[in-house]
Amino acid sequence: MKKFNIAIDGPAGAGKSTIARLVAERLGFIYVDTGAMYRAVTWKILRTDTSLEQDDQMIRLVQHTDIQLLPGEKGQLVYVDGDDVTLNIRYPEVTSNVSRVASVAEIRKILVAKQKEMAASKGVVMDGRDIGSTVLPDAEVKVFLTASVRVRADRRFKELQAAGQADGITLERLEADIAARDKMDQERETSPLVRAEGAVLLDTTEMSIPEVVESILSLCREHAVGG
Ligand code: DC
Repeated sequence: MKKFNIAIDGPAGAGKSTIARLVAERLGFIYVDTGAMYRAVTWKILRTDTSLEQDDQMIRLVQHTDIQLLPGEKGQLVYVDGDDVTLNIRYPEVTSNVSRVASVAEIRKILVAKQKEMAASKGVVMDGRDIGSTVLPDAEVKVFLTASVRVRADRRFKELQAAGQADGITLERLEADIAARDKMDQERETSPLVRAEGAVLLDTTEMSIPEVVESILSLCREHAVGG
C-alpha cells in the first residue's frame, strides 16, 4: 500500500496513544506521540528550575533542547539531550504543568516544525491535539477520538492501578484533573484542541480498543481504495 499520514487528535485519556500505536503496528507505519514532546520540554523546564512565568526563558531553553523519539520494545522511547526520560515525562508534576508550557505559541512553533519534519516522508501515525488542524492539515486520514470524562478518568485510574501508582489517587480527583486539562487545551489561543476539518469523529465511550483500531483501519482502506 502506498504510504500516507494519519492524524489522531482528541482530549486527554481518549486512548489516542494506545490506538495510534496499534494502528501504526498494523500498517508498519511510524508512531509519533507529540504529547511526549510537550512533556519532554516541560520536564526539562522543571528540571532546570526555569520559571514557568517567564515565556522568553522557557522559549530559549526549548530552542536549545534536542528531543528524539525512538521505537522501543514497549513503546516509544523519549530522549532529551541524549538522556532517556521516557518514565520521567509521566510524573504528575510534568502532567500538571504541561498545559501551561503547551500554551506558549513560540514553543508550539518549534515543536510543530520538528513534527512536520518527522512526517515529511509519509507513513506516520501522529497523535496530539492539533495534528489534523495545524501540524498535518493534509493528512490523508484524520480522526478525532473522544470519550466521556468519566470513562476517560476510569481508564486512567485502571492504568495507574496496573502500574502500582494509584496510591492516594481517587477517581473523582482524576475526573476533575482531566476536565481542567480539557478546558485549558480547548481554550488556549494558539492551536486549541478542535475537531479538524475533515476529521472523522469516533466516540470511544462504548467501544473496545480492537473496535476503535478496526474503525481506523477501515478508514485507511477507504482512503487507499478512493485515493
Ligand atoms: O497527550 P498527552 O496527555 O501526553 O499531552 C500532554 C499535553 O500536551 C496536553 O496537556 C496537551 C499538550 N499537547 C498539545 O498541546 N499539542 C499536542 N499536539 C500534543 C499535546
